[in-house]
Amino acid sequence: MADKTLPFGTDTLQEILDQNPTPFHIYDERAIRENARALKAAFDWNEGFREYFAVKATPNPYLVKLLKAEGFGLDCSSMAELVLAERTGVTGEDIMFTSNDTPAVEYKKAHELNAIINLDDIRHIDYLEEVTGLPELVCFRYNPGPLRGGNAIIGHPEEAKYGFTREQLFDGYRRLRDKGVRRFGIHTMVASNELNSDYFVATAEMLFDLVGEISSELGITFEFVNMGGGIGIPYRPEDEAVSLQVVSDGIRKAYAERIEARGLAPLKLYMECGRMVTGPYGYLVSRVLHVKETYKTFAGLDSCMANLMRPALYGAYHHITVIGKESSANTKLYDVTGSLCENNDKFAIDRALPELEPGDVVVIHDAGAHGHAMGFNYNGKLRSAELLLRADGSVTSIRRAETLDDLFATLDFDGLDVFDVS
Ligand SMILES: Cc1ncc(COP(=O)(O)O)c(C=O)c1O
Repeated sequence: MADKTLPFGTDTLQEILDQNPTPFHIYDERAIRENARALKAAFDWNEGFREYFAVKATPNPYLVKLLKAEGFGLDCSSMAELVLAERTGVTGEDIMFTSNDTPAVEYKKAHELNAIINLDDIRHIDYLEEVTGLPELVCFRYNPGPLRGGNAIIGHPEEAKYGFTREQLFDGYRRLRDKGVRRFGIHTMVASNELNSDYFVATAEMLFDLVGEISSELGITFEFVNMGGGIGIPYRPEDEAVSLQVVSDGIRKAYAERIEARGLAPLKLYMECGRMVTGPYGYLVSRVLHVKETYKTFAGLDSCMANLMRPALYGAYHHITVIGKESSANTKLYDVTGSLCENNDKFAIDRALPELEPGDVVVIHDAGAHGHAMGFNYNGKLRSAELLLRADGSVTSIRRAETLDDLFATLDFDGLDVFDVS
């Protein structure tokens, strides 16, 4: 069972609310750090184990700095994320650049930062060579395609746009070897928000076997395997969190059998998780604006799917705590909505909650990854502030709320004066 508690008491939250208008996102530094340490400790048997935090999950430089202090690298997927890394002081092989359909200018930036470049397409060997020249270390993203070999990997990778086929991997590494590249990595990501630890062990087994086959056929040595992200989090109270120890034990066994036994060690194990790093430790704090009764009862919040779109996009469950009513019975069914002119702008549908009134403060859980980051401005909605609850109990603003001036900054209203429509 997941523990749906809050890292602040009612009085502390009231103090935060006195200083900060709703809606806002707030992250819990202490829990993020403890979790980061637990992840590293689980894999400390692998010398060189590294988590490259997927910046896309929560692209805030303050959180990035905090994770850097915990020893994490960064997984960047775009120009903006590369620049964010650079401006937070993260460069070189502390960055893994995992992108797709990549523009030349982004390869140039990744090259300038000496990031590890992870190619998504065999044709990008020539593209990269033309744009920047080939770096000394290159990684390929593998797409296993239709399930094979009894691997228990989820989904239909063959439908995904990402990665190289198996044949392309062999061809690609051969070409890199012949072009003088000497350092190699391999990457895959075949799960998303997955709570079954077997999938991660199966992913590692698949990569370890590939490392063995490619190494022996081509006579090259791999430095690392990157298992991607995708570790799920217990969004629902009845969900069980992934046991990092179980995942680690399974991968350790596979490493002994498939890497050490074949004389392929040392091989560094990388991950690029986002969701499990910050997801459970971020909260969207909002207020009930209106309660509306028609054929159903709607609790309209002062936030909307622009602040957290997972429920609207995927029908995802996010737990909701009503402040001050934690011990009240959940006596009424609500659709908890935002104010966007989209009927799917709902944080919850038919959710049993205590009786709600305008002004009630609600906290939406597990909003710390792919939450604020997925925000947008449709209907002119402004993105909310982000706060950090520091380990010492103080609260720091790590991003101010957007203003209408921010929203209109790309428009030249003065130009209207000379814009002739007669
Ligand atoms: C290439 C890549 N790596 C890592 C991640 C992070 O995934 P998660 O936040 O589910 O761990 C993503 C998510 O979209 C991704 O596309």
